[in-house]
Amino acid sequence: MLRNDLLAGRSILITGAGTGLGRAMALRCAELGAGVFLVARREAPLEETAREIRARGGRAAWATADVRDFAAVERAVARAAEEFETPDSLVNNAAGNFLARTERLSPNAFAAIVGIVLQGSFHCTLALARRWIEAGHSGNILNIVTTYAATGSPFVIPSAAAKSGVLAMTRSLAVEWARYRIRVNAIAPGPFPTEGAWSRLVPSAAAEQEWLAQHPMRRFGRPEELADLAAFLLSDRADYINGECVTIDGGASACAPGGFRHLLDAPVEFWEQLEEQRRRRP
Ligand code: COA
Repeated sequence: MLRNDLLAGRSILITGAGTGLGRAMALRCAELGAGVFLVARREAPLEETAREIRARGGRAAWATADVRDFAAVERAVARAAEEFETPDSLVNNAAGNFLARTERLSPNAFAAIVGIVLQGSFHCTLALARRWIEAGHSGNILNIVTTYAATGSPFVIPSAAAKSGVLAMTRSLAVEWARYRIRVNAIAPGPFPTEGAWSRLVPSAAAEQEWLAQHPMRRFGRPEELADLAAFLLSDRADYINGECVTIDGGASACAPGGFRHLLDAPVEFWEQLEEQRRRRP
């Protein structure tokens, strides 16, 4: 379905691009002809992803930034413009999440997740859209949310609150900035096994099997499936899609609301073990 030149001539900034779904989207967009500018906190995964893209004949550059820091985001965007090219598209993918009983959270834990997901998405959006609007360029924003952004979910309250904020921002800006030819869409993924998500959200092999057994397709998503959807939504072929959130979860949220309701009956030992695992982590 996707032609090899689908994104030729395009330039896409992707946050959280060193690992997981961000990396998969970067590889696929580059394969389809886009130059990709990778942003994340850690240098090593960015370097490795850029190297892989170049080895496959694609164009990639990167800068480290914590998206919670607006000045750092501004520096990354400026660097993209100087050393690479001004991105015409943005994928807000950087995220943070963990399972926790809400009454055990510290205000700082809440702030860490909301800072990355909601403020971070706003920071990147603002930094790029200001440049597009000032220069009279069109633009394209794709926000990676989650199926529980629409329904809420227990045990991931900071993430649920932040992601639903990003979804509201998607629909609001799609309307406000349509006059500038800036499209704003979202993808709501269900379960996709990446190291980052699984290490924080799926505490054991038994929990994974239980989750799988409840899934209508009895399988999780494949990163390349999400990457293809992202590439399509970013492409000109999707020019009339604006303010939309596309779910990709194999029917899981049609079957039952997304999120972590299956943990409502988890015994107190489950939570104690999770907290103990975290204490032991370096
Ligand atoms: N349960 C409860 N609280 C937690 C927690 C957990 N599993 N992990 C971290 N916190 C709390 C910390 O205790 C701290 O609060 P405190 O200062 O009151 O003690 C606060 O959250 C910030 O933690 P810290 O490790 O200093 O933040 P950070 O900015 O270095 O890391 C995280 C941010 C916590 C989101 C970290 O997990 C991360 O970097 N994640 C990125 C990748 C990711 O989450 N991917 C999954 C996407 S689905």
